[in-house]
Amino acid sequence: MSSALGAGRNGHPFSLDESDDEGAGAGAPGSGGGGAAGEVGVAGAGPSLDGAPHATSVRSVAAIVACRAVPVIARHGSVRALMALIAIIPGDGIGPEVMLHATRALEHYRDDRKLPLELWQLDLGADRFLKDGTTFPKEDAARIQKDASAVLLGALGDPRVPGLEYARDILFGLRFGLDLYANMRPVKALADRLVPLKDRTAKDVDFVVFRENTEGIYVNIGGQFKKGTPDEVAINEDVNTRKGVERLIRAGFDYAKKHGKKTVHMADKSNAMKHAHELWYRCFFEVAKEYPDISAKHVYVDALCLYLVQDPRPFEVVVTNNLFGDIVTDLGAGLQGGLGMAASANVHYSDPKRVALFEPVHGSAPPLVGKDLANPIASFLTVGMMLAHLGWPAEEKRVEDICTRAIESGNCTPDVGGKLGTNAVAEWILGELRRSA
Ligand SMILES: NC(=O)c1ccc[n+]([C@@H]2O[C@H](COP(=O)([O-])OP(=O)(O)OC[C@H]3O[C@@H](n4cnc5c(N)ncnc54)[C@H](O)[C@@H]3O)[C@@H](O)[C@H]2O)c1
Repeated sequence: MSSALGAGRNGHPFSLDESDDEGAGAGAPGSGGGGAAGEVGVAGAGPSLDGAPHATSVRSVAAIVACRAVPVIARHGSVRALMALIAIIPGDGIGPEVMLHATRALEHYRDDRKLPLELWQLDLGADRFLKDGTTFPKEDAARIQKDASAVLLGALGDPRVPGLEYARDILFGLRFGLDLYANMRPVKALADRLVPLKDRTAKDVDFVVFRENTEGIYVNIGGQFKKGTPDEVAINEDVNTRKGVERLIRAGFDYAKKHGKKTVHMADKSNAMKHAHELWYRCFFEVAKEYPDISAKHVYVDALCLYLVQDPRPFEVVVTNNLFGDIVTDLGAGLQGGLGMAASANVHYSDPKRVALFEPVHGSAPPLVGKDLANPIASFLTVGMMLAHLGWPAEEKRVEDICTRAIESGNCTPDVGGKLGTNAVAEWILGELRRSA
């Protein structure tokens, strides 16, 4: 990995104090973690190898991980202050604009509702990188790994840094480095008018995508040969391990079981990708045998895109690989009103005590920057997911209900049919949050 994280005790920047059943911080194969390209649109990468029953809503990760508040606080058996440390990385573009208000929501929870939260702002992103070359300092990485309960990230990506090396270090350093293998992306419409499908309403759009988050084509293994010549060759390898595929699929089934879902779909392209996706196909039906009460359905990812826009109702839980999950969840965001409405959690599903990463699905949206146009709802919903994960599932429901009312009452940004700016929407939501019992 090309980051400034340095190597941890186990040769990994995020190696944990204690090992767990799956080994700490697997990271990208051949990379030592992080350093992958993909979602942040890393351009011009060279040939290096751096590469409980549903308590509230579908967004609730609390149920899957059992209440995290107390275990978080005494993470890894160490005695720590009864405080959940949340690292906040506003990032780039609209990231700081929406994170400003997400932070205010957390301050409300800390100051008014007396939740034991400690907030830690990190000055990381394109501005910092351009100023002094910093990507992701190893001391920040170490403190996150050692002391934090969660990381809240706005967005990364800046046109002034086309290589996006700092973004790769931060985002993939966190996802890969902390081995946050399950990227949970709820696709839930909060109001009928947000659903663009004919004859479909909000109740028809309610599923969660489990995107594999540490493997696939994002590991940045590959290279370019004879670059810039007519004989140029460009290769990205798609890495799929039995362990990586199986644990993600099992997470999807486990979530379905705990949330009373009847069906898990697995999306691949095993008809074309005979090697890698045959593994997904075989593994899916093997794991499915452990969950006889849940219907396991295979679907090719291209057909999944068709079915989702025709009728999303049959879908409850979708498990898929890193690339397909990235793409399908943008389609999913379209079904719920756009990227300004989509929240996500990155978790090491089998060990809820590990620090987790929460981020709105959207990117830095350069055209919106400085215009008071960014929809802050995805970030508020992301705060809700984080609070549920930390052990306060009722707060996720509270935040979601207020965001729903914001949409219904027209107190929202133009992307979801409103006339207000980012700041006014946030004021409305924060006002409702403060007033709610
Ligand atoms: N996790 C991340 O940090 C992440 C994810 C995706 C993209 N990116 C980066 O973000 C930059 C821009 O990428 P992009 O344009 O493909 O994706 P984007 O998510 O920034 O924008 C896609 C579309 O959604 C709209 N949009 C996004 N967030 C919105 C919000 N909160 N409110 C209203 N509209 C919103 C944008 O205006 C745009 O039309 C790139 O550098 C990319 O690499 C980062």
